[in-house]
Amino acid sequence: MAARAVAPNALDRHVALVGFMGAGKSTLGPVLAEKLGRRFVSVDAMVEERASASVAELFSKQGEAAFRELEEGAAADVLWSGPPAVVELGGGGLGSAPTRRALEQRAFALLVETTPEEAWERVAGTDRPLAADPDRFRSLFEERRALYEETADGRARNVEDAVLAAAGVHVARGSLDRLAELAPGDGAVEVVSDANVHALYGERARTALTARLRLTHEVPAGERAKTVSHADHLWSTLRLERDGALVALGGGSTIDLAGFVAATYLRGVSWVPVPSSLLAQVDAAIGGKTAIDVPAGKNLVGAFHWPARVVVDPDLLRTLPAEELENGLAEVVKTGLLAGEPLWELSTHEQVRCCAAFKAAVCLRDPFDRGERAQLNLGHTIAHALEAASGYALPHGRAVALGLLAVLRLSGLEDDASMVEEVLAPDPAQVDRDAVWEALARDKKAHGGTARFVLLDAPGRPRWGVELEPAALRSALEGVIH
Ligand SMILES: NC(=O)c1ccc[n+]([C@@H]2O[C@H](COP(=O)([O-])OP(=O)(O)OC[C@H]3O[C@@H](n4cnc5c(N)ncnc54)[C@H](O)[C@@H]3O)[C@@H](O)[C@H]2O)c1
Repeated sequence: MAARAVAPNALDRHVALVGFMGAGKSTLGPVLAEKLGRRFVSVDAMVEERASASVAELFSKQGEAAFRELEEGAAADVLWSGPPAVVELGGGGLGSAPTRRALEQRAFALLVETTPEEAWERVAGTDRPLAADPDRFRSLFEERRALYEETADGRARNVEDAVLAAAGVHVARGSLDRLAELAPGDGAVEVVSDANVHALYGERARTALTARLRLTHEVPAGERAKTVSHADHLWSTLRLERDGALVALGGGSTIDLAGFVAATYLRGVSWVPVPSSLLAQVDAAIGGKTAIDVPAGKNLVGAFHWPARVVVDPDLLRTLPAEELENGLAEVVKTGLLAGEPLWELSTHEQVRCCAAFKAAVCLRDPFDRGERAQLNLGHTIAHALEAASGYALPHGRAVALGLLAVLRLSGLEDDASMVEEVLAPDPAQVDRDAVWEALARDKKAHGGTARFVLLDAPGRPRWGVELEPAALRSALEGVIH
């Protein structure tokens, strides 16, 4: 029998929550649905509504077989129709071959993990028909385990991990060493890596990929790599076929370049970013935006190309220079302000997991940047203008920190502005005021005359597309320029 194809993500698919009774699917489901901006459907609730009877009543009056038939019909109706939803399947639902087929075609099956002990704790004493006896419960758990494992496209225990799995993002220490298994499919792989990162991790990537690795391509470190000539060199030297995958091992610059090349080579091949900087782990590797720079501007040529998988190994950050960590920390603070949670107070590993999950959720809701993804620009319009006015001498993290300070003051959130001063401590920028103003005017023109400012009504409550009075904007800029 051919191996089942694993769905890489839930971009155009339902998220189907599978797993044993008591795993927490009905608690996780509605929260996940809200995060993904999708409706939540419980197959058990559909059955109960259609039969005008509870699952327990159906079991006792009509027997399990009759219930399974109704369950199969309801699962088919929801899985084969409608825009992608979050669908909770009952613990025994996978016993149906038609349901498994529908899952394979239409869903990303997310296994909600639990142990028999945890599950029993949750269901003991309820009216669930199959949870009357602890020994029978445990043996049913063991019986069904293989089927859950076999069906799962991803697994999670909490909502952040569920969002990450749905976006195809794998965050785990040591995941670099598991690249061969994490890069989807079994075709050849070529690696693009920047000179610094290649020297540090190239050998480990090579060892991990073993026979799947065909070629490695080295590009310069930093923004210098994001040019047409480096893209052209890669287009000319890649040997991948359509079933191959391009691995981008490096910071945001390598990832933007390699992602753009993957989007265009053979009209699109799979790609797997392996972000090695904090900024790339929490931001650049997530969401499928790729770009190179051209003389007319940074990131002006690019494509949306969702990665087949993102492999995030927080241990790679151990070698990251301090100033690069600071660049990433500014994005962590931005994400925390958007999420309304002090994510900057977490350990680095948790910062990465939570920030990546936040961005992944926004991008799953708005993959082509047509609406609410604009919130991710919080502080960035001003940051970009400061960077441009400094001739790109101002570090990105400091520019973002100053941009955040300015928009928080414009939002009237002085306490949060003080937090940014405390956590990121950015010195004001030494740039020419008129040059900043001109850069802001250019930015507005480049975006069809649309305002790109994001303000916060409160942490966790962003408002985008805000027009600002020139006088208010000027005065906020004064506060961040030396
Ligand atoms: N596509 C997106 O959604 C998106 C979002 C944000 C930023 N970006 C882009 O990301 C780029 C910036 O990314 P960046 O900040 O990662 O910079 P970068 O890729 O230029 O890397 C910065 C430096 O850190 C080094 N480095 C990276 N990982 C290392 C490690 N583990 N150990 C030691 N050194 C390491 C690199 O060699 C480089 O010298 C910009 O071009 C920006 O436009 C893209």
